[in-house]
Amino acid sequence: MSSGFHGGLIAGLVGIGLLFAATGAVSAAGQATGTGDAVARGHGVFVHQCAPCHGAGPGDDGSPRLPGTAALVLKYQGEQPPELEKRTDLNADILRLFVRQGVGAMPMFRKAELSDRDIDDIAAYLKASAASR
Ligand code: HEC
Repeated sequence: MSSGFHGGLIAGLVGIGLLFAATGAVSAAGQATGTGDAVARGHGVFVHQCAPCHGAGPGDDGSPRLPGTAALVLKYQGEQPPELEKRTDLNADILRLFVRQGVGAMPMFRKAELSDRDIDDIAAYLKASAASR
């Protein structure tokens, strides 16, 4: 029946319209608080720049832990979680110290590669991720 077909089509279009409206509301709320934006942005930066060494692993080469996580297991011997995403002690100032100078096998990051805002946002993301674990 053609009227049934049209009814379904219209219902579908209304549904898509509602979906767009809902997505718009969510992103507007995120911008309103500001914090949500920093956390989301920090997550993106962390995934690209830090997680390849500091994620939970395993590594692509079959090693059980990624190099940053493995080094921090040895350094802390259980006193701190080896994954940065579980740490509650890493604020932006501390991150900046390690990230701008490099440490051990970790290379330093220049401002052209990683801005101060990137570091602030990573700190916001780590705080949020540690709180949710
Ligand atoms: C190429 C691998 C690699 C990358 C990429 C990397 N790290 Fe590291 N990171 C390490 C290693 C290895 C250590 C341990 C160094 C040591 O103490 O011997 C480390 C240590 C650290 C520490 C010190 C933690 C502590 O308590 O001693 C911080 C903080 C840190 N990394 C943050 C970051 C952040 C933030 C990023 C992304 C912007 C990042 N790292 C990217 C390998 C990496």
